[in-house]
Amino acid sequence: MEKSSYFKILFIILSSSCFLIANSITLKPEKPCKRLVLYYHDILFNVTNAANATSANVSNPPNVLSDFNFGMLVVFDDPITVDQNLVSTPVARAQGFYLYNMKTTYNAWFAYTLVFNSSEYNGTLSIMGADIIGEKTRDLSIVGGTGDFFMARGVVTFSTDAVEGLGYFRLKMDIKLYECY
Ligand SMILES: *[C@@H]1O[C@H](CO)[C@@H](O)[C@H](O)[C@H]1NC(C)=O
Ligand SMILES: *[C@@H]1O[C@H](CO)[C@@H](O)[C@H](O)[C@H]1NC(C)=O
Ligand SMILES: *[C@@H]1O[C@H](CO)[C@@H](O)[C@H](O)[C@H]1NC(C)=O
Ligand SMILES: *[C@@H]1O[C@H](CO)[C@@H](O)[C@H](O)[C@H]1NC(C)=O
Ligand SMILES: *[C@@H]1O[C@H](CO)[C@@H](O)[C@H](O)[C@H]1NC(C)=O
Repeated sequence: MEKSSYFKILFIILSSSCFLIANSITLKPEKPCKRLVLYYHDILFNVTNAANATSANVSNPPNVLSDFNFGMLVVFDDPITVDQNLVSTPVARAQGFYLYNMKTTYNAWFAYTLVFNSSEYNGTLSIMGADIIGEKTRDLSIVGGTGDFFMARGVVTFSTDAVEGLGYFRLKMDIKLYECY
């Protein structure tokens, strides 16, 4: 190999390790590069509320096998608002599913995409993780983004804001991005 090629390789190794060091010290939980607080509203379809329902239980009987809905899968297209009011103009949709995965308590797992389509935000954030319903707050991963959220990553903190029987619940989503481009 020529001498100049050695220098080129050395340069690449040195510059990529500098990049790694620089990246590893910039992420602090209390210092997101972007933060949004939004509310998630879920109205479960119950046969008579088709006009208002935003989610559907797609489990087949008899596959839900405990008092805590273990085995139940719900698909949703839920409105996202900036305040707690269900009828506020939505700023995004949450599209995906949650499922219940514990026999001994209410515990869920979420996988969904926040779809923004307005002049303020246009793009998506994809979110997945465990929703340990009994905890006051739960952290889920923001695994990627598109559009205005190109290549974003971060954490969304859920807290239950309201529950009305089986038919409606509202989550507060505290969205913190740590990688913004
Ligand atoms: C379905 O939900 C609507 C709205 O909450 C309620 O008025 C209705 O009684 C419910 N129907 C059943 C079958 O539970
Ligand atoms: C459906 O939503 C409308 C508002 O969009 C509300 O006026 C109506 O009471 C709701 N119906 C039920 C059954 O919840
Ligand atoms: C969901 O569907 C399953 C299967 O039909 C049923 O056993 C369960 O009670 C339903 N849960 C709710 C909350 O609608
Ligand atoms: C996004 O908004 C534009 C302009 O209002 C509309 O034409 C388009 O259908 C919307 N796309 C989605 C996926 O909702
Ligand atoms: C959002 O971006 C998409 C793709 O670039 C575009 O088709 C759409 O019109 C945009 N929507 C708004 C509301 O600007």
